Amino acid sequence: MTVKIAVIGAGPGGYAAAIRAARMGAEVTVAEQDNVGGTCLNRGCIPSKIMQTTAVMIEKFKRAAEFGIKTNGVFRLDMPVLMARKRRVIKSQANEMLKVINDNQIRFIQGTGYIQGPNLAAVKLDGQKTVELPWDRLILAPGAYPTDLPGVPFNGRNVISSNEALSLEAIPESILIIGAGVIGCEFAFILAALGSAVTMVEALSRVLPLESVDEDCSKILAREMKKKKIKFMINRIVERIEDAGDQCRVTIGPSPFARDLQAKDTKSTTVTVEKILVCVGRKPDTAGMGLEKIGIKMDKRGWIKVDEKMETRAPGVYAVGDILGPSKSMLAHTATTEGIVAAENALGKNRVIDYKAVPSAIFTMPEVADVGLTESQAKKHGYNTRSDSVLFRMLGKAHVIGAIAGQAKIVSDADSKIVLGVHIIGPHATELIAEGALAVKQGLTVMDIAATIHAHPTLSEIMLEASQKAADS
Ligand code: NAI
Repeated sequence: MTVKIAVIGAGPGGYAAAIRAARMGAEVTVAEQDNVGGTCLNRGCIPSKIMQTTAVMIEKFKRAAEFGIKTNGVFRLDMPVLMARKRRVIKSQANEMLKVINDNQIRFIQGTGYIQGPNLAAVKLDGQKTVELPWDRLILAPGAYPTDLPGVPFNGRNVISSNEALSLEAIPESILIIGAGVIGCEFAFILAALGSAVTMVEALSRVLPLESVDEDCSKILAREMKKKKIKFMINRIVERIEDAGDQCRVTIGPSPFARDLQAKDTKSTTVTVEKILVCVGRKPDTAGMGLEKIGIKMDKRGWIKVDEKMETRAPGVYAVGDILGPSKSMLAHTATTEGIVAAENALGKNRVIDYKAVPSAIFTMPEVADVGLTESQAKKHGYNTRSDSVLFRMLGKAHVIGAIAGQAKIVSDADSKIVLGVHIIGPHATELIAEGALAVKQGLTVMDIAATIHAHPTLSEIMLEASQKAADS
């Protein structure tokens, strides 16, 4: 008998689950209330990288003379053209996804999916019509959306989320970014390059204060921010905003979340900006989904709980992607893997998710990428930890392309020589991390990397240099 699988949400998680399930012979229906592609394609990875690509080009233009290109120094950002390019790329990707959905005989329903009860979902179409959707297995991939701050609601005008920042019609002269996490830091570099005066405020004690981000990477990134004239205040929060229409006056004070407040952090200060971009995390998007009707459990913040097979507490019901919250990994490529694992388990396989080697790729300028354990995490796990760093300035290729800032660090177990983590900040770090991901996933040793011939002159030699250093006892 053909298994009926219903998928709610067609972002990277739901899409991957649907394709895998269809290829394994299931009868698959996907419900999506918005455009196919989810946050990643419509309001996340892809549009932000389109803006970042333009930002990188601007930075290169500014250095044209150094590379022997004479310009009269004049160039102008054309936001309507940038936004039109963004829409074009999104549309073309969405069409590709819809074609694959179609080619795999998946039924795609445009509408809002919700659970009616055991083995029955429904999709509300435009105009209030509803389609019933019986299922043998259900895969939930509804995603998350930007969270606002208490007392600082989004208004779409001068207090905005990343959603609006990706659709700006004009670059604000000045902007305050609240939260120096992944989204905040990416936008800080993008908007600074596109012409904004950027100030950031972060409640914790460093930029990119994520557990997975190496402290040296944060330090180097902070140094690069200073070079780009991005102002940032750590250990601070926004206390008050006075909205004067075209300008906001913002009072910034000490952070109650900071551990070691220094005297200088305790003073209040004010800044006046045209816009405020709030990037302090995301919220689950499950309102009205009827999760309680079949006993799906959430944590106290509303993120869905699953086991290592991606199954919720309701048998036969799986959840994947951002809806699992920050305790897992809110990344598109993780969602894709979770989707495949969920689909296979829904069809009788016995796959377990492995988060050990999830690479992270942060498109700041320079880029930051990591995989596996940081030095401090490795120590906490009880490893005889060693870490070996090499600066990009050691590489001929880094000088050739004029991008020498940054380093690569390999965290390894001094006894077994196994690679535990790789942390890169520098040119094309987000591409270079693939080698680290392979090493961590396969349990390779630093000698394995050191014995691999790396092409010259390439940036990949940074992994060769760092592994050779780590292989030396
Ligand atoms: P985040 O959790 O990465 O960062 C939020 C930051 O805001 C934290 O550093 C936090 O300390 C700070 N914060 C919280 N409350 C604050 C306050 N009141 N005042 C000042 N600072 C405050 O969340 P973000 O940047 O919104 O990203 C959301 C998710 O999207 C993350 O899970 C991220 O991994 C994912 N994402 C990944 C990207 C990538 O991999 N390239 C790109 C964009 C998003």
